[in-house]
Amino acid sequence: MQPDGKLRLGVNIDHVATVRNARGSAYPDPVRAARLAEEAGADGITAHLREDRRHISDADIDGLMQGLSVPLNLEMAVTAEMQAIALRHRPHAVCLVPEKREERTTEGGLEVAREENRLAHFIAPLRKAGCRVSIFIAAERAQVEAAHRIGAQVIELHTGAYCDAHADGRFEARDAELERLRDMAALAADLGLEVHAGHGLTYDTVAPIAAMAQVMELNIGHFLIGEAIFRGLGPAIAEMRRLMDEARR
Ligand code: PXP
Repeated sequence: MQPDGKLRLGVNIDHVATVRNARGSAYPDPVRAARLAEEAGADGITAHLREDRRHISDADIDGLMQGLSVPLNLEMAVTAEMQAIALRHRPHAVCLVPEKREERTTEGGLEVAREENRLAHFIAPLRKAGCRVSIFIAAERAQVEAAHRIGAQVIELHTGAYCDAHADGRFEARDAELERLRDMAALAADLGLEVHAGHGLTYDTVAPIAAMAQVMELNIGHFLIGEAIFRGLGPAIAEMRRLMDEARR
């Protein structure tokens, strides 16, 4: 927790790189966006270096490591290549996510329960290098308990199913998802894990997640970069910050 107990906002800048890569040029620069996000009140910057480099590039990670004064949270798949990159850069935080080449975005959480041994071995050197290791999981008891057993310090709960249900108007399903998220946030905190949450969050869906006392950090990307088209990145982030603080009170 931060000294003032404030819920942290990690701004994911992947989709600045998506726009840049659509033209194969150097503009817009995700590092510049990250600095702007910092000025607008982001407590951290999140970037997902995907195996296929469809948005963030290796050079972006170099730039973010050098150019930020807030912590970098590097999202990555559980591969030897990514582990080597993380060990070279030693970012403040590493978040392990599942990755499928054909998916449009990170569709589900990591299968921790079935891969405990492999994951425990994977995260040990990252922790030794001083990275705070987080595991992106679905809000399921088996995953939370397995994340705890393998020595992760943090879990990030996948809020995608909750946000999709809200967007589709399936309100019963949405409320059931919220209940699961609440229960698993409480279980994780009882086990001593720090709880984060993210994926698909918008102005319409952020409040119930921000209101969960155990949740210490939200990671939000796609919506903020989209909203930046209409109001600018700084004001888009400031409004998210306001909604988070309001829900927390
Ligand atoms: N958290 C994790 C672990 C993610 O993989 C992503 C997407 O890269 C996010 C948060 C942010 O999701 P969104 O871009 O939908 O806000």
